[in-house]
Amino acid sequence: MRTQVGIIGAGPAGLLLSRLLTRHGIDSVVLENRSRDYVEARIRAGILEQHTVDTLTAAGVGDRLHREGLEHSGIHLQYPGTRHTLDFPALCGRSVWVYGQTEVTKDLVAAQLDGGPPLLFEVSDVTPEDVDGDAPRIRFTDADGIPQVLECDVIAGTDGFHGPSRAVVAAGAGGARVWERTYPYAWLGILADAAPATDELIYAWHPDGFALYSMRSPKVSRLYLQVDPDEKIEDWSDDRIWDGLATRLALDGWAPNTGPITDRSILPMRSFVSAPMRRGRLFLAGDAAHIVPPTGAKGLNLAVADVTLLATALVRLLREGRTDLADAYSDTALRRVWRCTHFSWWMTSMLHASGDDFDAQLQLSQLRRVCSSEAAARELAENYTGLPIEA
Ligand code: FAD
Ligand code: DHB
Repeated sequence: MRTQVGIIGAGPAGLLLSRLLTRHGIDSVVLENRSRDYVEARIRAGILEQHTVDTLTAAGVGDRLHREGLEHSGIHLQYPGTRHTLDFPALCGRSVWVYGQTEVTKDLVAAQLDGGPPLLFEVSDVTPEDVDGDAPRIRFTDADGIPQVLECDVIAGTDGFHGPSRAVVAAGAGGARVWERTYPYAWLGILADAAPATDELIYAWHPDGFALYSMRSPKVSRLYLQVDPDEKIEDWSDDRIWDGLATRLALDGWAPNTGPITDRSILPMRSFVSAPMRRGRLFLAGDAAHIVPPTGAKGLNLAVADVTLLATALVRLLREGRTDLADAYSDTALRRVWRCTHFSWWMTSMLHASGDDFDAQLQLSQLRRVCSSEAAARELAENYTGLPIEA
């Protein structure tokens, strides 16, 4: 088998990269170790920045997003006694969209299977080889158990945090440097069949811990509670979850709408950056190279920003034989990665209960500052809605 770009991983990064390349006449093959059902059912992020919406639209997968996505023009920041609205269009001229990552993935998979480049599910033993030369390849075993070799010009490692690509970059002559921060808390996330009782998302600071009120549609709410990282999901009954949310989100008798919980999980929180994002002809994008804690909703958007840059660089490399953008890719991408890493760390640190009352007073002071200073609010709004992608 032969293709121009061998793509490992059918998350949003890999699928979108394949789609962007196709539109420029570059062929690719996407290899995914999970099943289609599994990939389409993973509940993850829910907020899309303007540039992500624009990129998906330009890639021809924006129809349902424009029909069903909910445009949001701000967020509420809350601490006991106060709920303050940040108006994003007034602060920075942009907004964000609520549209689940599951829906983005379904749209991309459907487009791929409808005449797009090959997308192979349930492959195993995926191994990139000879990435330092001009003719790299990927060895893998297909869904029927038959060993295969995919010869490529370039390999894209879009295989998430647990995929094999990052280790191949680190094993190169130049090695890799890793920065990591594990936070002393996690998020318990639920999906509930309940109409959201709020127009905008609510990010709430509370002495018991952070809570976030988000949504997926006019009938489905997505809510999160800060919990200890070693909490067991079995110890959280529906009543305990709703009581925690009601306490932390409470304001003047207002309370979230409750309803049947259809999904629940506990997510660890970490910041992680691995650099460089390239070794020879192997390029990393998305969670394969970096992880941000979810506060601020940057993970998915950052993956989309990476592949937007990478697609442009690969088109230039493979169509014109020019290496300049491919050579600049890692440094250019990492500048945005670090901006988003800082913003996610800052939002996380401002909103999660941790430390002692000194920390709590600093957090409340920072929250009051964002709620009272237009300059401080604009800094949050510009980062939250997404800074422009560097050329
Ligand atoms: P992924 O979506 O991880 O895709 C990687 C793909 O590679 C997967 O399909 C995987 O199965 C495949 N793969 C892995 N190993 C192999 C292999 N050996 N061979 C072949 N394929 C392989 N972000 C937010 O902004 N807000 C959130 O609320 C939020 N919640 C999250 C909850 C969870 C549980 C997780 C894990 C992440 C969450 N994120 C959230 C982050 C966001 O979902 C990710 O940043 C985003 O999915 C990154 O996309 P990606 O394509 O780079 O990686
Ligand atoms: C969602 C997730 C986030 O991390 C966030 O900051 C806002 C919303 C969500 O899943 O809806």
